[in-house]
Amino acid sequence: MNPIRKAVFPAAGLGTRFLPATKAQPKEMLPVVDKPIIQYGVEEAVASGIDQIIVVTGRDKRAIVDHFDISFELEHYLKDRGKTRELQVVRKISDMVDITYIHQKEPLGLGHAVLMAKDVVGNEPFAVFLADDIIKSQTPAIRQMMDVYQAQESSVLALQRVEPDQVSRYGIVKVVRSEGRIHEVADMVEKPEPGKAPSNLAILGRYVLKPSIFGILETTHEGVGGEIQLTDALRTMAQQEKLLGLEFEGTYYDVGTVSGFLKTSIAYALERPGLREELLAYLRTLDGLSHQA
Ligand code: UTP
Repeated sequence: MNPIRKAVFPAAGLGTRFLPATKAQPKEMLPVVDKPIIQYGVEEAVASGIDQIIVVTGRDKRAIVDHFDISFELEHYLKDRGKTRELQVVRKISDMVDITYIHQKEPLGLGHAVLMAKDVVGNEPFAVFLADDIIKSQTPAIRQMMDVYQAQESSVLALQRVEPDQVSRYGIVKVVRSEGRIHEVADMVEKPEPGKAPSNLAILGRYVLKPSIFGILETTHEGVGGEIQLTDALRTMAQQEKLLGLEFEGTYYDVGTVSGFLKTSIAYALERPGLREELLAYLRTLDGLSHQA
């Protein structure tokens, strides 16, 4: 069986929820504490054994390309001033992994962005990362999913249980049978109304897909918003072949909305020894202010 070696990172969306910050840079480059969102995902992929990253970029790809490229000028500057730690941080990024960039000329949807990677991925299974879901776990989430793929040779979606009143924020799966944390998916519904959801298992931004998804995407018509939706292609896939979902072990942070982004930034900052105390003290003063108001 083919091992999973490649990961596709669609990053060509317009990021309208973060305007004006995303006017001239992709949402994936916004920092959580001091690291761009996309780097969290790339590190997860590398830690899982993936050795080629394919980033699908849109109009403003420069910031992403430059971030993962060598910066001779910056390295020279840091070396000159003896800033060894900073030099290591910067070097580690450009040494990390081989990255290929593909241009999506127009933002025609997530499904369309994945289809753009067809020729580079070829006829082998691959991972897809939506970088605006950051997942913290002991074993990387995508590694857990790759293990299920290796054992069962079916595509795997990342699932997490959500509160029943939260289902309308997610794609929700309909399950035909379950074994522990692995569920066989029969269908899925985008953002169902509470009470009409087929389960409380939400699809998050990690996928391990067989290359058959490309043929399905090629014949998938425009869906919601006039875009080619990955969910529509996955629904077809569930009808044609076995599709699994894994309730992965780990904590998921949604950085695709402004409130989720802020909460994640605070959560990650509080884990930093050098930041924690100062930030906590500051948050307490704000809390005190809100009690007085
Ligand atoms: P989102 O639905 O989050 O859209 O895309 P967005 O444009 O990034 O953000 P908002 O809703 O306008 O604020 C999900 C993922 O699919 C990628 C995005 O970059 C994001 O990683 N995407 C979306 C593409 O690569 N191309 C597209 O045409 C659409």
